[in-house]
Order: sequence, then structure tokens, then C-alpha cells
Amino acid sequence: MPRPRRGGDDEDPKDSTFGERLPGGGSLGWRLDREERHPSLSPELVSAAVSAPIVFSGIQPTGRKHLGNYIGAIRQYVEGQDRGDPAIFCIVDLHAISVAYDPAELRERLYDTAAILLAAGLDPERCIFFRQSDVREHSEMTWLLSAVTSHGDLNRMTQFKDKSAKQELVSAALFFYPVLMAADVLAYRATEVPVGDDQRQHVELMREIARRFNERFGETLVVPEMRIPGVGARIMDLQEPERKMSTTGGTEAGTVLVLEEPQAIRKKLGSAVTDSGREVRRAPEKAGITNLIDIYAVARGSDPEAVEREFEGAGYGDFKQAVAEAVVDYLAPVRERYAELRPDEAALEAILAAGAERARASAAPIVADVRERMGFGPA
Ligand code: TYM
Repeated sequence: MPRPRRGGDDEDPKDSTFGERLPGGGSLGWRLDREERHPSLSPELVSAAVSAPIVFSGIQPTGRKHLGNYIGAIRQYVEGQDRGDPAIFCIVDLHAISVAYDPAELRERLYDTAAILLAAGLDPERCIFFRQSDVREHSEMTWLLSAVTSHGDLNRMTQFKDKSAKQELVSAALFFYPVLMAADVLAYRATEVPVGDDQRQHVELMREIARRFNERFGETLVVPEMRIPGVGARIMDLQEPERKMSTTGGTEAGTVLVLEEPQAIRKKLGSAVTDSGREVRRAPEKAGITNLIDIYAVARGSDPEAVEREFEGAGYGDFKQAVAEAVVDYLAPVRERYAELRPDEAALEAILAAGAERARASAAPIVADVRERMGFGPA
């Protein structure tokens, strides 16, 4: 089915035509992010984008997946697979080699991540679920897009600065990471990219790359929208709530893993850092409590205002206990399902292989189009 090209389709987020909440967009108020106004966007294109977004997101197989990944991203994937046509989710193993790694461990972590996503509710019948390295178009597209990516932009990426400070060898792959990420999305002409807040700069760059390609070679690529959840886009470390939760940059005691046992979850939430006050309410100077309110709201399918009302007059101790129970209940089904799925690597491989075939079928004609526009192959 031919799709309208939506390159540069953008408008004011406050404009109600293409509002914050999409049909079926979940109860927590999702946000599509756009920085610029493009008044030329036609109503037809708006309605096409609303009714049938092409959703794409990726997740790294490195580290262990934590509550921040789950709340900021994975739950969005599950929700996105019913809106997306198609919804495409990719385990980005090519990104994982940008820092020091062990090949055997990479394979193990890839299966872990695949099983977590399936346990969380990704359904290979309702989405395209695959391993990035199986689809060569991603690598080729990276090189092609590097022609319209500015070195200065890559140099400004805060994630590159943060991660390179921690590496013995700062690989060229780490520098090129955002180009590969742009290739992932642009190779499918995806319209929507569900991510957590920390990927904002990368998504802005991929939009710039798409725009620059279209200016240079003619309208070819879609400028995708970033989609971040209204609540939980940035889950913070429980011990150091001014830092985001992360298995690489955060504290161990402050990071709740998706597969963690209930007792460990209770312990981590019980010792979460709060403040010297007593009120369960969100405030800039109450980073720890604000974070716990967001976590509780998502885990219970509520919203932060309702949580503040629910715990009016309650002490921090009772509140933390309630958050712990909510998180235990929230993650238990995923952990249980994971235990069933993870041992069968052949089944996981079969799912990933079938997904890769479908992904290739989607990406190949678009990459061929890009090649042709750039002057490769016969006239
Ligand atoms: P990765 O694997 O680091 O993280 C996966 C997703 O989890 C989100 N996330 C968080 N959300 C809320 N609070 C947190 N503390 C938190 N920590 C992580 C991330 O924003 C992300 O959405 N570069 C990407 C992977 C990627 C990708 C793509 C994403 C590769 N290609 C194409 C979208 C589209 C990454 O490192 O994710």
C-alpha cells in the first residue's frame, strides 16, 4: 500500500488537530513531540498519521533491563503495536558493539531482552519484532545517511560525551551511534518513535538528518515524531534521584530490574532516598518523592494528581511500602512469563528470524529508493 510521504510534517503541539493524545493512546496522556511549526501540513496527512502511524523503536541488548526501560519505553511498545501499521521493534545489537563487550555475552543478553519484550506483551503476530544485525539494510543505510550528517552535530551528542568518558577505547562506532539510530528509523519511513526522555537529542538529530536528505536529494524520507510518555519518561535512580535510573550510570541499590525478585524490589523501594519533608506531593526539591509518585501512578494505572490525593496525610514509610507492592504486582507477570519463554532459544530464534524477513521486506525498497536518489546503480 503506497503511503503518503510525511517528510517535515510538523506542527505546534498545542494545536488541537494533532493533539497530545492519540486514539487508543493509553490512559496516561502520551506526548508527541515536535519543535517546529509547519503550517503546510494538510488535514489528510494529519489524519493519515493519526490513524496509521508507522511505529519504530529499538532497545539495546546490553545491561539488564530496568524499571526505567519498562516504564519509559517497553510499555509504550506494547501499546504501540495495536496502533502501529506496522509497529516495528528491534533489538539493537549493532549499537551494543559501540562499547567494550563480550560476543558470547551479547548473544545471551539478546535472548534475555527478546524474552523480556515478549513476556511484557509484544506479540509477533501484531508487530514486526527482530534483531537489528539480521537486516543488513540498517548498516548500509547508516553509511548512506552519514553523507548528510554533520560531524559537529555528532560531536554535540551528550550521550557520546557521557559514554566516551567511561571508555578505554572511544570507538568510532560510539561516535556514529546516532547515525545508525537514524538509519533504523528512516529505513522504514517510520512516523513515530516511542522512547524515553534520554533519547530526545538522538531523535532530534534523526529528524534533522531526514530533513537534510530531503533537501539535498528530494522528498524521500519521513521526518518522524518522537513519542514520550506524559508520566514516566524519565525514571530516576532511587538512591540518587537527580540521576536517571540506568544499569551503566546509576547505583545498583537505586535500580530496580524488570526480573528482580519481590523481596529485592521491596528492599530497594523501602530504602529509596526521599527528603526531610512529610508530604507526598511532587515538587522540584522533592526529586525522590516525585519519582516514586510517577512510578506508583504508572504501576497502578493512575495519575500523579490522584496519587497525591490518595496519600494525603500518609507518611513516607507507608507510601514507600505501597509503591513497593505496586511495583511487585506490576512486574510479577513479566518475570513469570519470562521464566517460561527464556529457556527455549530455538523458539526465540524462530520468532526473530520471521521478524527479520518481514523487516527486510519493508526496508529493502526504501533503501533502494535512497540509493537511487543518491546516484548509485544504473540510471
Ligand atoms: P536503551 O536500550 O538505552 O533504552 C531503551 C529505552 O528505554 C528508555 N529509558 C528510560 N526511560 C525512562 N526512564 C529511564 N531511566 C530510562 N532509561 C532508558 C530509553 O529512552 C529507550 O527508549 N539508542 C536507544 C536504542 C535505539 C533506538 C533506535 C530507539 C537504537 N535505535 C531507534 C528508538 C529508535 C537506546 O540506547 O535505548
